[in-house]
Amino acid sequence: MSEIRVGLLGLGTIGTGVARILLEQQELMTRRLGKTIRLVAAADKDTGRDRGLDFSNVRISDDAADVVNAADVDLVVELIGGYEPARTFVATALTHGKHVVTANKALIAKHGEELFVLAAEKGVSIGFEAAVGGGIPCLKALREGLAANAIESVHGILNGTCNFILTKMENEGADYADVLKEAQALGYAEADPTFDVEGVDTAHKLAILAAMAFGSKIRFDQVFTEGINRISAADIEAAAELGYRIKLLGIAKPHGKHGIVEQVEMRVHPTLVPLDAQIAQVSDSYNAVQISGDFVEHTMYFGRGAGERPTASAVVADIMDIARVCSGDGPDAVDKLAPPMGFVAGERKELETLPIADVACEYYLRLMVKDQPGVIASVTSILADHRISLEAVMQKERNSDQAVPVIMLTHETSEGNLQAAISRITALPSVEEEVLILRKETFGA
Ligand SMILES: NC(=O)c1ccc[n+]([C@@H]2O[C@H](COP(=O)([O-])OP(=O)(O)OC[C@H]3O[C@@H](n4cnc5c(N)ncnc54)[C@H](OP(=O)(O)O)[C@@H]3O)[C@@H](O)[C@H]2O)c1
Repeated sequence: MSEIRVGLLGLGTIGTGVARILLEQQELMTRRLGKTIRLVAAADKDTGRDRGLDFSNVRISDDAADVVNAADVDLVVELIGGYEPARTFVATALTHGKHVVTANKALIAKHGEELFVLAAEKGVSIGFEAAVGGGIPCLKALREGLAANAIESVHGILNGTCNFILTKMENEGADYADVLKEAQALGYAEADPTFDVEGVDTAHKLAILAAMAFGSKIRFDQVFTEGINRISAADIEAAAELGYRIKLLGIAKPHGKHGIVEQVEMRVHPTLVPLDAQIAQVSDSYNAVQISGDFVEHTMYFGRGAGERPTASAVVADIMDIARVCSGDGPDAVDKLAPPMGFVAGERKELETLPIADVACEYYLRLMVKDQPGVIASVTSILADHRISLEAVMQKERNSDQAVPVIMLTHETSEGNLQAAISRITALPSVEEEVLILRKETFGA
């Protein structure tokens, strides 16, 4: 029986999970594949740590080059993370004609395009299912299961840390900074949580999803990105009173005429979603991706977006897909696999990104104002000048010397128009602090 020989870079959280499946789940995989996947080599800076696995038949090195250059490795799994040296190792493996599987969303979001070109030149494949949604096979669903559809929208809760923080803030009425500290103590948030809480991690994943959905090039640098650090427990409570829950969403939509996509809208920000929307039910560290297509209508994929075992599950599924087209001798039939980004080479376009000023939304505004007569009237008059009408106004506390919060929900307007109104509102002497602007998605409700 033919076998495919795997080399692993990084034996951290996910690398250990992948090694565990490859060493302990052999029989099931062989029954599914009709061939064997064998872990032959692995590299990590720390080779001495006990990972609770029997590596007696695996060459372990502290030098990744030993794996990337090994003649007996057919497929390299990159689980080091970050941009460099991961990019160099992946490029070297591809150059040597080895297939690559990675869970590294940062790498694919930033350098994916050059790596896809290199892989195609060398006749090998690159798999990255685990880079988006961890254990949820949402890329495979988008690339293959929904291939007959023109995709109309993608909405995702793509970062478990942020979802955990927002859920806990809601359940306990606790403030952001306290919950973040607790999440760090529990290991749900990194010591440096910047990529998670500022929305960068979600933007990496959204850039990949959007390109795959609309046949465009990956443009991570074009994703409008805001994080969750300005959300207070009071905002979560006010949103709930108005019938909404706040989620950090990645949102991608196509724009164009006659069914031809000309521009892609990509944004990541805390979003008000109706309390009864399916995506609003996704709590704690879970992820979900809602994809709508012109024939299939709405579909939703839910599960663990991170963690050793779920993420390793997605990595190994990619290894198995590639193993199916490996001949064992002679060139591998990678053209039998769906193209990595779901469109054949040359059919993915360099599409423009819709400028954020042109995005149309309904908005939640939180103003901190002096509790004086006429303040709300001056704010609403500026909004009226900009033809922005209001769905709701809520002022919670009164008769205080301190600034009090006023919450407003607007009807739909363009971001550019809203921002013009907000800069006039911010200049009012009775308005203190920067106005908090949150966007609403109603999912057609
Ligand atoms: N953790 C998750 O839940 C999750 C979910 C989805 C995707 N991912 C992605 O999966 C990848 C791996 O994440 P992880 O959580 O497993 O990270 P991790 O626990 O930090 O593991 C990375 C491992 O690679 C080692 N390493 C770093 N540079 C190396 C080098 N030059 N040569 C050899 N080994 C090196 C690290 O050693 P040191 O610790 O000594 O640096 C560490 O043991 C990342 O791209 C991440 O974004 C993770």
